[in-house]
Amino acid sequence: MKLNLGERFIVNNPIRAFIQRRIEGPMLKRMAGFKSYPLCLEIGCGTGLGAEIIVEQFGAQRVIATDVDPDQIKRAKKNLPLRLKEKIEFRVADTMALDEPDNKFDAVFSFGVIHHMEDWRKAVREVSRVLKSGGELFFEEPLREFTSIFTKGSMLSIIATHPAGGMFSFDEFKNELRNNNVDIINIKHFGNIAIFGVGRKQ
Ligand SMILES: C[S@@+](CC[C@H](N)C(=O)[O-])C[C@H]1O[C@@H](n2cnc3c(N)ncnc32)[C@H](O)[C@@H]1O
Repeated sequence: MKLNLGERFIVNNPIRAFIQRRIEGPMLKRMAGFKSYPLCLEIGCGTGLGAEIIVEQFGAQRVIATDVDPDQIKRAKKNLPLRLKEKIEFRVADTMALDEPDNKFDAVFSFGVIHHMEDWRKAVREVSRVLKSGGELFFEEPLREFTSIFTKGSMLSIIATHPAGGMFSFDEFKNELRNNNVDIINIKHFGNIAIFGVGRKQ
């Protein structure tokens, strides 16, 4: 689901960029199973900074970075530094129906994206399908306890709106990954609010 005005402002903001580059990227890298990931997919790339982080911090040689919102892809292309043009390609794509073959990527990244899906289970199925066996899924996601505050029609939905189909608990997320042959190999909980972690496809 596309972002509303409030969340668009939060996502396309230098503070968000600072947190993603300096805190989230390094934290996920410390949880990684491997030293580098040659071919990566990013879902819901927003401003495109995640793709830069995947090259610079995770050693990717090539990143396909996708977003359902053509405006975000336009913005990401504009933001892309010249030095990374050969390595990063931005595409409009819906994570729930990826136009990619099975078993293609060494890693898939979701920087706060799966909870934005109308059907998060479909997204998990898709990211698992396109991961190679042994490939890793990096995720940072808020949990139901947090996302449910921002349902459509609530007062806080001015700041952000989260679809009902994108809400899950940690156990639901973990079980759905397992149903799709992805085992969590590293996880950090921030109370019941959010999780940062890495899953590996069997
Ligand atoms: C909370 S923002 C996160 C953006 C960026 N990853 C970041 O960390 O700053 C969620 C992003 O997911 C995108 N998105 C929402 N639903 C999507 C879908 N079904 N497929 C692909 N991208 C989607 C939105 O357009 C938005 O850019």
